[in-house]
Amino acid sequence: MTEILVTGGAGYIGSHVVRALSRMNYTPVVYDNLDGGFRDAVEGFEFIRGDIGDYDKLARVLKQRDIRCVMNFASYIAVGESVADPLKYYDNNVGRTIALFRAMKDSRVHNFIFSSSAAVYGDPDAVPISEESPLRPSSPYGRTKFFIEEMLRDLGVSDGLQSVSLRYFNAAGADSSGNIGERHVPETHLVPLVLRAAIDPSYAITVFGRDYDTPDGTCIRDYVHVNDLADAHVLALRRLLDGKGSAVYNLGNGSGFSVLEVIESARRITGKPIRAVDGPRRSGDPARLVASSRRAGNELGWKPAFADMDGIVETAWQWERSGKRRAY
Ligand SMILES: NC(=O)c1ccc[n+]([C@@H]2O[C@H](COP(=O)([O-])OP(=O)(O)OC[C@H]3O[C@@H](n4cnc5c(N)ncnc54)[C@H](O)[C@@H]3O)[C@@H](O)[C@H]2O)c1
Repeated sequence: MTEILVTGGAGYIGSHVVRALSRMNYTPVVYDNLDGGFRDAVEGFEFIRGDIGDYDKLARVLKQRDIRCVMNFASYIAVGESVADPLKYYDNNVGRTIALFRAMKDSRVHNFIFSSSAAVYGDPDAVPISEESPLRPSSPYGRTKFFIEEMLRDLGVSDGLQSVSLRYFNAAGADSSGNIGERHVPETHLVPLVLRAAIDPSYAITVFGRDYDTPDGTCIRDYVHVNDLADAHVLALRRLLDGKGSAVYNLGNGSGFSVLEVIESARRITGKPIRAVDGPRRSGDPARLVASSRRAGNELGWKPAFADMDGIVETAWQWERSGKRRAY
């Protein structure tokens, strides 16, 4: 069985990818420091507790095993925090990833799949955003993703590292098993916070800005189901193992939903009132971020199964009601 090292695999997206790999008969080996992840999210899978900055540990793991590809999900993910504390982000998301690259190089592991982000585009000139759109990240978080993508290009030339960078738009939803789902602490993402307001009537979701140039004045984002993302990772892995070379792909479902539309969807699905209050715009929040994922469709054969918001929210709601999330 082909072994895949999944760094950051105990987190939200990684734990869904681990299951997708296993379903397709790959053997995931999860490597995570549990800073933001959860051991119980990868129950039943091989797990190594470690930091991607720990060169010695990684090199040992990579040399002892027959790892064919590293998928790296490990990073800090909060845009606002990255503005307040950029060094924390440059250290973890860039510095420690360099240790991972060194360990891969010294262990002759040449395939890498990277969790990049729509944040590399910053505020786009037009939507939908294609991979050719200018890269102008507007936060330290977005820049960490941009820098790693640049490094991957350099390492492709110098060391023959083959990589696929997957620029996710807004991951949402949960596995239909109800066993795993979105569980960031602190939670900063819209769907789980809207559902928090459904569970807890004393909690109100804050709508940051109602005066954007959009039909209802609130920000529009592209929500992509986490299992659709997971499938794309398996397709990207096949591409690398087939020797088709490095690539960059947007992953979004191509339709945008406003903050108010997400809240309405959650009201429909949960049957709960969901309190919302207005807040100021957050700096650096573009009005619209919607992906063109045509390239991933054409080259990987990727087709997201979840197209509408209600379907995504329904799976998230099932997870939030499971009681496995213990904190926000
Ligand atoms: N969630 C989204 O909507 C979204 C959108 C775009 C990009 N991404 C990217 O996808 C990846 C996964 O996101 P997520 O939402 O699953 O986040 P997450 O916080 O749930 O998962 C990240 C995992 O990485 C681990 N980790 C962090 N630093 C580490 C280190 N130094 N060594 C070892 N493990 C470490 C954490 O413990 C956690 O399990 C991240 O790289 C993120 O930037 C996420």
